Amino acid sequence: MRGSLAKTFMEGSVMASILKARLLRREYPAVLHINITHKCDLKCKHCYGSYPARRSNPDLPPSEWIKIAREARGMGVRIINLAGGEPLMYRGIGEVIDAMTDMGIAVHMNTNGDLFAKKADEVKNLASICFSIDGDRETHDAYRGKGQFDRVINGIKLAKRMGYKVHINTTILGSNVHTVVYVMELAWYLGIGVEFLLNFMQTPEDAIGTDWDLRGALLKIITAQKAGYPVFTSPKSLIHALQWPDYKKRTGDLNDCKRIDPRMRCVAGRFIFILDADSTAYPCAQWMGHYPGALKVTEHGLEKAYLATRREEMCQTCYASTSFNDYALLSRFHAGTVWHHAKQALKGIMPHRRTP
Ligand SMILES: C[S@@+](CC[C@H](N)C(=O)[O-])C[C@H]1O[C@@H](n2cnc3c(N)ncnc32)[C@H](O)[C@@H]1O
Ligand code: SF4
Repeated sequence: MRGSLAKTFMEGSVMASILKARLLRREYPAVLHINITHKCDLKCKHCYGSYPARRSNPDLPPSEWIKIAREARGMGVRIINLAGGEPLMYRGIGEVIDAMTDMGIAVHMNTNGDLFAKKADEVKNLASICFSIDGDRETHDAYRGKGQFDRVINGIKLAKRMGYKVHINTTILGSNVHTVVYVMELAWYLGIGVEFLLNFMQTPEDAIGTDWDLRGALLKIITAQKAGYPVFTSPKSLIHALQWPDYKKRTGDLNDCKRIDPRMRCVAGRFIFILDADSTAYPCAQWMGHYPGALKVTEHGLEKAYLATRREEMCQTCYASTSFNDYALLSRFHAGTVWHHAKQALKGIMPHRRTP
């Protein structure tokens, strides 16, 4: 879990992998997201995957995911991010992580943290772990259930004590915009970074918040980041999200992309793609469940399923997934973003300083 700066940045960092792919001038998927299970122990109100309704779907066995990972490694994938559903609910999660790690893949995970104390040893080979926090105690528990805020904070503290590389992830919605400053304070207090996402297109319109809500939250984040708060998302991606013309329009085509910022042309379906728990391939989480022509890896093989995610007419830019916009910027060597993530990698291995 711990490592040198070189290891942290060149092997463990998603961003470094994108840069490497670009430097080698090869279009291969460097990063694969796998939603490894539909099972989840929580029922979050905002969940884009409708996982609470799909929890009884059967999972693929570990041997199948290991086979897929081996094929992905052959295609160039060096980073796998495991989510779900709740990945800690997946039987054999440790076996899958260990096998992927043995192949030379850096494995990251998103979790709600509820089961972390039980599973911490089993997933010890993770390159990093990201816990979801939806706001202060009251707001987080309103989304995720009573007692969940304390459980996730305990999970984060345990993970830090055990030497995991940790950060948090917050999805900005209408009903938690008032807590973004709290979340940044919390991240600073815990000595970890925070990544902000705007809601995906599956989110019901009445939950996303008004344009003013979202712009207000983004302005606070951008200001706090300038003041030294540990915001993982790059300044350029946050500004892109702030300048998005209308938050009810979730994605844009090539013309929008040229008009808004050509450097934000999305790389999903090229450097990154995502597999759902039944192995269906999508360009990104926004399209999960409704991408025309999406193929299952178990029926069509990984390469064919990956190539089917490249339908450029579907969308070319969006505001929502700020980390995906960071991938786009890195792949175009956007200097500010490369520098921002190099600094984040450095901070990951330096002792935390309470500076703000
Ligand atoms: C689907 S969860 C899976 C991993 C794990 N169960 C968790 O909650 O962290 C991954 C991330 O997606 C976020 N998310 C859920 N619904 C979303 C939506 N409608 N729009 C954007 N992000 C969403 C969650 O808050 C979480 O941070
Ligand atoms: S814990 Fe994660 S997967 Fe489960 S319902 Fe909440 S956001 Fe969805």
